[in-house]
Amino acid sequence: MFFTIRVIALLSLLATRVSTSVVEPFGVEHLENRADVPDNFRSPPYYPTPKGGWVPAWEEAYAKAHAVVSKMTLAEKVNLTTGTGFLMGPCVGQTGSAPRFGIPRLCLQDGPLGLRNTDHNTAFPAGISVGATFDKKLMYDRGRAMGEEFRGKGVNIHLGPSVGPLGRKPRAGRNWEGFGSDPSLQAVGAAETIKGVQSTGVIATVKHLVGNEQEMYRMTNVVQRAYSANIDDRTLHELYLWPFAEAVKAGVGAVMMAYNDVNGSASSQNSKLISGILKDELGFQGFVMTDWYAHLSGVASALAGLDMSMPGDGSIPLTGSTYWGGELSSSILNGSLPLERLNDMVTRIVAPWFKFGQDKDFPLPNFSAYTQNAEGLLYPGALFSPRGIVNRFVNVQGDHHKLARVIARESITLLKNDDDLLPLGRNWTLKVFGTDAGTNPKGINSCTDKGCNKGVLTMGWGSGSANLPYLVTPEDAIRNISKNAEFHITDRFPRNVEAGPDDVAIVFVNADSGENYISVEGNPGDRTKAELKLWHDGDELIEAAANKFSNVVVVVHTVGPITMERWINLPSVKSVLFAHLPGQEAGNSVTDILFGDFSPCGHLPYTIPKAESDYPDSVSLINQPFGQIQDTFSEGLFVDYRHFQKANITPRYHFGYGLSYTTFNFTEPAMNTVTPLSEYPPTRKPKGKAPSYPNDIPPGSEVAWPKNFNRIWRYIYPYLDDPSAIKPKPGYPYPDGYSTEPKPDPRAGGAEGGNPALWDVAFTVSIKVTNTGKKAGRAVAQLYVELPTDSAYPTPKLQLRQFEKTATLEPGQSEVLKMEITRKDVSIWDTVKQDWKAPGAGKGLKFWVGESVGDLKAVCEAGESCKLSG
Ligand code: BGC
Repeated sequence: MFFTIRVIALLSLLATRVSTSVVEPFGVEHLENRADVPDNFRSPPYYPTPKGGWVPAWEEAYAKAHAVVSKMTLAEKVNLTTGTGFLMGPCVGQTGSAPRFGIPRLCLQDGPLGLRNTDHNTAFPAGISVGATFDKKLMYDRGRAMGEEFRGKGVNIHLGPSVGPLGRKPRAGRNWEGFGSDPSLQAVGAAETIKGVQSTGVIATVKHLVGNEQEMYRMTNVVQRAYSANIDDRTLHELYLWPFAEAVKAGVGAVMMAYNDVNGSASSQNSKLISGILKDELGFQGFVMTDWYAHLSGVASALAGLDMSMPGDGSIPLTGSTYWGGELSSSILNGSLPLERLNDMVTRIVAPWFKFGQDKDFPLPNFSAYTQNAEGLLYPGALFSPRGIVNRFVNVQGDHHKLARVIARESITLLKNDDDLLPLGRNWTLKVFGTDAGTNPKGINSCTDKGCNKGVLTMGWGSGSANLPYLVTPEDAIRNISKNAEFHITDRFPRNVEAGPDDVAIVFVNADSGENYISVEGNPGDRTKAELKLWHDGDELIEAAANKFSNVVVVVHTVGPITMERWINLPSVKSVLFAHLPGQEAGNSVTDILFGDFSPCGHLPYTIPKAESDYPDSVSLINQPFGQIQDTFSEGLFVDYRHFQKANITPRYHFGYGLSYTTFNFTEPAMNTVTPLSEYPPTRKPKGKAPSYPNDIPPGSEVAWPKNFNRIWRYIYPYLDDPSAIKPKPGYPYPDGYSTEPKPDPRAGGAEGGNPALWDVAFTVSIKVTNTGKKAGRAVAQLYVELPTDSAYPTPKLQLRQFEKTATLEPGQSEVLKMEITRKDVSIWDTVKQDWKAPGAGKGLKFWVGESVGDLKAVCEAGESCKLSG
């Protein structure tokens, strides 16, 4: 049952690939079959791919990796680069091993909110909730707690965090896995998560690079090539790449490429993206993997900079065919792929393994992502598989339920609270409506990968979901507190409900989305059918409650923006809480807020529009079942609030908005110039030296099948039948622009993330926040940068670049929040110079501090002074 949907999806994928009488390899022919990308969107060749190991922070790890890789046979090297095949081990992906050096098969497992498809794990709040906390420490703490759990289960490589999609399309299926529709918020969320995860020794994977802003048509198949996300250079740098750059700066060990093409070249073999931007300009030192089944070619992808194929399968999954494995061995022996490239691929994989200490006491996988039985098939995808103990049910939860509750609570965003209806009194009479207050009657984990919307919505669906170890529903939690609550866990408003004049109706509603391999209620990942509306006629339920009761609280669990115009202004709808996607502690976190044990302190990580038509047309879902979709990001930098401001459209609620039970005053804004700016950053240092190896083609015997080897059918091996017969064969058709001559160092590079001078603190801004209300609470200060208005670069008026959250302030208490603004924060991407430029060397810059992008309290002008603006 566990993976049925995935297997069905795979089989249908397979069916589409073998629909003609001839089974065609899914490779080069297919890639020729691309549509023309519009002019101005180009992905020029970038060769050779830069080697890893030249950054000082990675020196020691690379030295260790070099010592080991120098002694590896060709088979061992190939093993580490290639997955062993779908369902060929306990994890969602695993590489082969190099046991002589203590390197086991590396286990890769989803996902961004916790361990997928296992037991005794924590189902943390999703990324979108974490973004809504605007709390850097909680972002880190969640990363660390997840890292502990992944390590405890023996996972080497955590497949998270997700920062692509960024949330360009409000209906896109997987926005909720990330932290919100703003690059800086995504960047901080990702960097803190990565630092937390990697502090436990687990390698984090930032994904999906880049432009996977819609689920439908994301994957190339035999009838249709994946869409091409056509992104101009400036937009790429200032929006979509921004969080990836911060992830690299945070030292992330792995990057997963997207399924889609970028500017007409498949992400998993896009040399400009992988080699030019990620490895050269951003100085990425770890390894680059495909998304699952996004591997499209053998030599070409390796030349373009790909380091790991996941899950290893080639054109036809579950047949043992692969573009790498034995094929990679051949390509080395016949001289088409330079050994230098393979050596770099392996070194990039082994270096993070050493850097994060996985050579010392790192557990082997003790779970199976495919069954919950103790015993089972060791290779569930094999024709004949040995059996053994596959699940040891290791409890890795520790006390993480506490953190899960805190994050869920801190994310809850109060949008409306007329007459201070909230918090509720403990003895008030409550009438609770909506299936979203209850549980899934079939069981909390009954739908594979959460591919249904029943009961309280704790997360979206797909590979980014996790099993709930338990679920506290809102119904359970309200029952624990209130003796006077009546529950109507149905989405139809009941006929005979009594409404006393002081009764409070609490209506639970939701909006779901997920990953494309599952369709839920007509939504293939994206909210294609549901649009931005509440699911299950939630609007009607709220209206019915508002007709009958004069005090209505609406609680929304949602993956992203919804439209709420039908009911938001109804006089009896007094309070609205966005509880986002809270995970296992859904109920306790919402009652913590409803009954006033804590003041709400979450803020919206996206804009809520009045109508879907308020967004630019270019961010609508594209539906085109034939030919390659050209998804051109023609709105450029103007997504989410950046668009609303430019188009002068007042949204229903601004990005960053969120009320509290108390009130805050922002006073005493102050600014310091720390590092005077020049227009362009100081020149970078040249790259250091990367490890090198002898480049002689190894003897074929290194990849001959070992004697008496017990082959598992369909398992992907590096071995070949008669490798000694393979001789160097000139004439490989290298791609246009291919060269082995290293490119000059890109001027925007220089260290992990880019030129280190980009992170020089240029200014600090501080503000005093005082609790002026009657309850304790936490405030968030958001800092928006306004570039000089006369700048020649059309730029969104305001862009979030920093934020800080106070501790819990008692009434009357104050705290001074200090925010650092880096050179990069005030720069635009100069597409001609290929560098970051601070227009006017920072002259005329303004820094706005507020509680949302629509509620600015103070402004500081660079070189001048600050003043209150509210
Ligand atoms: C998803 C990835 C995920 C992978 C492995 C893919 O379909 O896009 O995010 O990590 O599967 O499950």
